[in-house]
Order: sequence, then C-alpha cells, then structure tokens
Amino acid sequence: MRFKSVIAGALMVPTAALAWPWSTDMMNQPSIKPQEGTMIPFPERSIPTTGIPTKVASRDEAKEMVNPVAVSPESLKKGQGLFVIYCAACHGLTGAADSPVSSKIGAISLTDSYVQENLSEGWLWGTITFGSYVMPAYGVPQGKRGSNDLSVEERWHVVNYIKNGLVKDHAAAASSVVAK
Ligand code: HEC
Repeated sequence: MRFKSVIAGALMVPTAALAWPWSTDMMNQPSIKPQEGTMIPFPERSIPTTGIPTKVASRDEAKEMVNPVAVSPESLKKGQGLFVIYCAACHGLTGAADSPVSSKIGAISLTDSYVQENLSEGWLWGTITFGSYVMPAYGVPQGKRGSNDLSVEERWHVVNYIKNGLVKDHAAAASSVVAK
C-alpha cells in the first residue's frame, strides 16, 4: 500500500509541472512554424478564405471591381450554361436581343460595342448583382423582383462569358442559320 502511493506520487509530480521529457517532442520538427521565416507573397489571383469581397452596395460601387475569376475554358462553359438559363429569355440565346420578348421589354443586345467595349466587367457584375431599371437582380433579394440565385463566383463566370464568348457564339449561330 505504501509503496503504491509512493509510485503514484512520483508520477504526479512531473504531470503537475507539464514536464514530461517527451511533452514537446512533436513541436521540434523542421517545419516552418507560424511567424517564422519570411512570408511568401500570396499567389496571383488568390482569394481570401472569407470569399471574394462583395461589400459593394450598388452597381455604381461595383464599377471598378476587378474580376477575380480568370478566363478559362471551364469558366466560359459555366458562364455560358448560366447565361442560357438566366439571361437568354430576355437577351436572346447568344445575347443579340432576339428572343421573342426582347423587343417587348426593351432588353438590349449584349453583343454590341456598348456592352462589349463601354461597360466595365465590374459594371456587368454589378448589373447582374443589383439588376438594372427593368432587369431584375440576381445577386440580392429585392422585393418580389430580385433573387440571389447566382453566387458571387457564378456572376463572374457570366461576366467572363459575356466578354469572351458571347460575340463568338453569336457569330457562329448566325452563320449556321445562313448555312441552312
Ligand atoms: C426579365 C428580362 C431580363 C433578364 C432575365 C435579364 N435581363 Fe439584362 N436587361 C433587361 C432589360 C429590359 C435591359 C435594359 C433596361 C435596363 O437596363 O433595365 C437589360 C439590360 C442589361 C444590361 C445593360 C446594362 C446597362 O448598363 O445598360 C446588361 C449588361 C444585362 N442586361 C445583362 C444581363 C445578364 C448577364 C443577364 C443574366 C444573368 C440578364 N441581363 C438577364 C432584361 C433582362
């Protein structure tokens, strides 16, 4: 009995001081620890884990936003898919304002130089996010008119498609109609 309590007591002394010889073994490795060494700059176009900044309250504020999503075949494909679902009904399948309702509601052609050259990518993103005069919003719920159906990133894919795929697709569609 006495012997046992001596052993138990001996074992408890270092525990209380957190001083087992092997307590810190795992810390001592060659890896770089937080705040050690030189910080490597973030790779280009990296996005904070908190997401792409969207703290803009209006289309005007979005005008200067820099598109964080690089143009790539994947992005254009996603953008095109979303365009057909969300935009084509009013703006036409290839954006040339040739859907049955385009002229009735005054939806403009997105292949014209007004959109292609004059409007910034940020403005396009802002238009999709907040809507325009007649056009509904797709990034913010807005009474009965708007929705937040498209995520921040999806809206940039649509922007990429408008600026980098729409005109080509429209020309291809137009020439295939002529060929028929
Ligand atoms: C319900 C019909 C409708 C849908 C759906 C729609 N739009 Fe529009 N859009 C319009 C109309 C009408 C205008 C012109 C009047 C205005 O600015 O509201 C317009 C204008 C625009 C403009 C020009 C903005 C400016 O500054 O002059 C852009 C860009 C645009 N739409 C992009 C899109 C994209 C991208 C989508 C899909 C995410 C989309 N629209 C879906 C009706 C629509």
